[in-house]
Amino acid sequence: MIFDGREVLCWSLNNYLGLANHPEIRRVDAEAAAKYGLAAPMGARMMTGHTRMHEHFEHELADFEKKEAAYLFNFGYQGIVSTIDTLTSPHDVIVYDNEAHACLLDGIRLHIGNKYKYRHNNMEDLEKKLKVATEVVAKTGGGILVITEGVYGMTGALGDLAGIVALKKKYSFRILIDDAHGFGVMGPNGRGTSEHFDVMDDIDIYIGAYAKAMAIIGGFVAGPKYVIEYLRYNMRSQMYAKSLPLAIVEGCEKRLEIIRSAEGDALRAQLWKVTRALQQGFRDLGFDIGPAEACVTPVHVQGDVVQATNIAMDLRENYRIFCSVITYPVIPKGMIIFRIIPTAAHTMDDVNYTLNAFTEVKEKLAKGYYDGTEVPNMRIL
Ligand SMILES: Cc1ncc(COP(=O)(O)O)c(C=O)c1O
Repeated sequence: MIFDGREVLCWSLNNYLGLANHPEIRRVDAEAAAKYGLAAPMGARMMTGHTRMHEHFEHELADFEKKEAAYLFNFGYQGIVSTIDTLTSPHDVIVYDNEAHACLLDGIRLHIGNKYKYRHNNMEDLEKKLKVATEVVAKTGGGILVITEGVYGMTGALGDLAGIVALKKKYSFRILIDDAHGFGVMGPNGRGTSEHFDVMDDIDIYIGAYAKAMAIIGGFVAGPKYVIEYLRYNMRSQMYAKSLPLAIVEGCEKRLEIIRSAEGDALRAQLWKVTRALQQGFRDLGFDIGPAEACVTPVHVQGDVVQATNIAMDLRENYRIFCSVITYPVIPKGMIIFRIIPTAAHTMDDVNYTLNAFTEVKEKLAKGYYDGTEVPNMRIL
């Protein structure tokens, strides 16, 4: 990436497979935009926004996810909010992981029936909440929906899909996963975190977003045909909003074609090679990267907001490294997280350079190099 006229090493892009600058993708995107423009179709799916191309892409996604049917979203976030809203009635109960993404929480907020959160990935707590939920639905006649992420996008932890699925033997519930960070990346064929855990058939509702592995915009939900048909005619964010533009649909189809090809396998292999080297490197150097198992790698450091900003400036201006910095009040005081997102476009040289830079930064931090009383101005110098 070029920043302020100079090349920088960027670790904060949603572009897992490096498709954003893939020559074939750039060509297809440009040709599709020239052919259809960015306006068409000019209506919602139920009005004039439904085309054969949308239908075809939905078949491709359903086939890839081994589900009966799929339905496209124009935005991942709204699609997820609206799926939860549409699938649950007041007599149903939602049980959800307490670290769920904002869009899941917004969807859950719309639910006026009972809802219980369980401690992040804690199966004992989930079981407790399922017991309570089971008693509730025995009275209301509703159902239970368990909601988790496939990959937790801030920590790189995986949702414990195997643990959740195992509880299906004891309790009656359906599972919805938001696999925005897992789709295209996780599992031997990139089918997602459900493929990684070999539980694809046990996930009732699978949601993927195009913004991460496909580096474009939109998303989809896949599941049983009768559920998808119900969503098609009841989901407010799709019924009352413009459908995904044709140029985007064509670009998405090409991306899915690559994800499913031998080239997709090679891109995933490169992504995991970079990810493993980076995560092992940080752990070997004594850095705390928490429970990261997926690609997202949060590097934890002790420090205040001034130190965090000084480090970010040093990384940007002197090491020419870009990554997102998370500080108080998003996380507790005294903690800094550098969120690093590897992609297939990174190299082993990038990994080694970054590990060396972070080693130096850690030493400088310990020596007081980043201490101060005022947050520096991060504008371009
Ligand atoms: C876990 C998760 N779900 C959903 C979304 C929203 O997807 P989109 O950016 O496609 O609207 C994101 C994006 O940050 C995400 O990380």
